[in-house]
Amino acid sequence: MRLTSIRLERFRNHRWFAADDLGHVVVFVGPNGSGKTNVLEAVDLVLSGRSFRQARSEDVVAWGEDSADVELRGLHDARVVTVRERFSLDGVRRLSVDGQEKKRRKEALRGTYTVVFRPDDLELVKGPADARREAIDALGSRLSEAYTHTRREYGRVIRHRNALLREWRASRADLAVWTEQAIALGARLLVHRRRLVARLFTHAAAQHAILDPQGPLAVEYHDRCGLGITDARIDVSLDEAKDALRAAFAAREVEERQRATTVVGPHRDDLVVLLDGREARRFASQGQQRSIALAWRIGEMRTVQEVSGSTPILLLDDVMSELDERRRAALEACVSDAAQTLITTTDSGHVPQSDSVPQVLDMEVLRGQ
Ligand SMILES: Nc1ncnc2c1ncn2[C@@H]1O[C@H](COP(=O)(O)OP(=O)(O)O)[C@@H](O)[C@H]1O
Ligand SMILES: [Mg+2]
Repeated sequence: MRLTSIRLERFRNHRWFAADDLGHVVVFVGPNGSGKTNVLEAVDLVLSGRSFRQARSEDVVAWGEDSADVELRGLHDARVVTVRERFSLDGVRRLSVDGQEKKRRKEALRGTYTVVFRPDDLELVKGPADARREAIDALGSRLSEAYTHTRREYGRVIRHRNALLREWRASRADLAVWTEQAIALGARLLVHRRRLVARLFTHAAAQHAILDPQGPLAVEYHDRCGLGITDARIDVSLDEAKDALRAAFAAREVEERQRATTVVGPHRDDLVVLLDGREARRFASQGQQRSIALAWRIGEMRTVQEVSGSTPILLLDDVMSELDERRRAALEACVSDAAQTLITTTDSGHVPQSDSVPQVLDMEVLRGQ
């Protein structure tokens, strides 16, 4: 998909916003608080279904209003399409494509992917384990319906199981039913996630080698599933994963009763990123961490291309200014490969050089107050 226009109404701070005749590389320039990130968020929410800000749909409705509207027009498989979505305060979202209401976003927008680059990406390296799990699972969910389903169901089972553990009367038999489900779904999530990590890091490491001579970049998968195989490239069967989980649940039964929470399972796994064999979170400099985060996101772009055969739309939110020469060149290479790139910046001096001439748009001109 390549967008030709973005229109917003009552979306966050935009009473009304319209950007038409969009080109291959579009740069939104405006001061802080002018709503640049909000524009990229709207695009990502509609195309990927999720907000990179982890916002709920009701958060994006302009204060004092009941609903927000996003309209994207674009070229999809050489066809002109109009995608609309309404976000209501009660959390309801209504998606339509060419006027027809759609329940299944992935099916309706097949082959449309976004990859987002943000300053916060540093959290992938520096932040807690859930930032890394979330990034991997979000990628998996975009690429596969089965991943989405497994992740959602697994989350539901763990929430239910934790609620049971908090009730002092929950019997062993009650719990056992949910343990079986946690094992079945957890094994599936673990196997899928490990494969995706292996694939992503093959690309990320190759990219990192270009970005930063200090390396190599590698990753270890540290599971809490009783498996203990840190090399994600080693393929683990579903049965192996289930056996490991079953044994771990049995071994830690007393502990989870005491802590009243499910301590075993992929919802507690972590990825340990290694730079030249040392844990990047603890030993890499800020600059080195930045290169790793960038390599991770470019790795995502390559993974999307490899798995889906489609070229994603890149959303670069305020990331150009903090890049050195080498990183800027790497990002510019991606921009040339992408279906389209939308960039935000406060400074029009920070515009990437690529094959296409960037179209620079002033936020003040696009916004109706
Ligand atoms: N639901 C909302 N309704 C109205 N304004 C909002 C809403 N959510 C966020 N904002 C406002 O949007 C502005 C931030 O927009 P943002 O896209 O982050 O700006 P930029 O990226 O240009 O710095 C802030 O001033 C914030 O208060
Ligand atoms: Mg911003």
